[in-house]
Amino acid sequence: MSVLAIDAGTTGVTALVVTAEGTIAARGYQEFGQHFPRPGWVEHAPEEIWQATLEATRAALRQYDATGGPALRGIGITNQRETVLLWDRETLGSPRRAIVWQDRRTAGVCNRLREEGHEPRVAELTGLRLDPYFSATKLRWLAEEEPNTWALVESGRYAVGTVDSYLVARMTRGTWHVTDVSNASRTLLFDLETGDWSDELCSLFGVPRDALPDVVPSWGPVATSDPRSFAGLELPIAGIAGDQQSALFGQTCFDEGDTKCTYGTGSFILTNTGSTVVRSDAGLLSTAAWRSPSGETTYALEGAIFVTGAAVQWLRDGLQIIGSAAETEAIAGTVPDSHGVVFVPALTGMGAPDWDPHARGLIAGITRGTTRAHLVRATLEAIAFEVRDVVETMPALTSLAVDGGASANNLLCQLQADQLGVPVERPEIVDTTALGAAFLAGLGTGVWESTEELRQTWHLDRRFEPQGDRAAADAAHTRWREAVERAKGWG
Ligand code: G3P
Repeated sequence: MSVLAIDAGTTGVTALVVTAEGTIAARGYQEFGQHFPRPGWVEHAPEEIWQATLEATRAALRQYDATGGPALRGIGITNQRETVLLWDRETLGSPRRAIVWQDRRTAGVCNRLREEGHEPRVAELTGLRLDPYFSATKLRWLAEEEPNTWALVESGRYAVGTVDSYLVARMTRGTWHVTDVSNASRTLLFDLETGDWSDELCSLFGVPRDALPDVVPSWGPVATSDPRSFAGLELPIAGIAGDQQSALFGQTCFDEGDTKCTYGTGSFILTNTGSTVVRSDAGLLSTAAWRSPSGETTYALEGAIFVTGAAVQWLRDGLQIIGSAAETEAIAGTVPDSHGVVFVPALTGMGAPDWDPHARGLIAGITRGTTRAHLVRATLEAIAFEVRDVVETMPALTSLAVDGGASANNLLCQLQADQLGVPVERPEIVDTTALGAAFLAGLGTGVWESTEELRQTWHLDRRFEPQGDRAAADAAHTRWREAVERAKGWG
């Protein structure tokens, strides 16, 4: 028994076939285009996301077929969250590109709503804040700036959704328009306590409730893929979760207090808060983690950092001083420290804990002796500092479970342990986001009977103990905080 997991991330789509033993039997990956029409704007073409999903799936299926493994039981979907898409319910074509979670164009919408005094109520209902990060601000912008398109949302012709809803619609030829609680809870339209869309918020942001998907549990069959559209597969779609909640599930963080950090485009630290919505006054978000088929919701506290892996990508594609992300470990390892260079990668503003959409990137402390190795090392250090800033706002940890692409970087994991002062634990499988979706789909189709069984599949790869001088780590962190203050408000 195996399941297919689709992880539709910010820069590409991964498809994994995961076995009942929790191992990866096959894999496909396909990048898609990033569109930056103006400074601070980030868009994706929905059709490209869909084509990348098909490509990645076909590649995984080809590999899997060659292994002669057992038939697939179900599909799990996980996705970049908050990004909003519109599509025609009949043709499934999209009238415009998706507005991505990183997009800052709605800072003005947020300021206006804040000035009108809406933030406390919005935060109370949603556990979130008025920041361009979240979906409803993007929808309100569309309603105001593109009234002709929006008229067709209001008339019912266009559906509104996040990437999970869009993929389900494409996989089912438009038969289903659904989302799960973890994705819904990132929109600013979802009432955390009632567990459903809020009429009050829909009216505040001007979003017709009928345009939104139905909210379904995070596992259990909710729809069936149509083989004519989806790579010949007729399977139950039986797991859906936003990528960070999915990674929490994939790390088997099932108990209250269990915490993980996923290094992706950004980095996201989530701690399971059980059946209680825990509020933070230190810049953390309260969010739904998942909902069981019997309706029990598990919540999480989240520290969302917008730019970590994206900073490494910028070194590669923008500055072109590295050839690949994987090189950073070796390059940064050629120098003992960053030689006083501090890089604040606020390339799309700052998320937790500082929350400043106007912050911009800053590199300080450059001298004639500065080399690319120092800058690369400063980038890895920045990631470790950013994660420390968030972890310090959470209840004390005894260790931190990490995953995601950059967790393969041993130097980063060591810097992270040194900054946190607690061990960092890396599991054997670091594709934890996709693994979480596989777990959800497998629970939903009887591949696994319980979360206890899933726990047995988690294996430690390496534990990084804090090393070196604590005072030196703290001093470096203090310098970082000074640089962060300077980066704020720049844009
Ligand atoms: O909230 C944004 C998050 O879901 C994006 O994650 O992995 O695509 O960087 P990732």
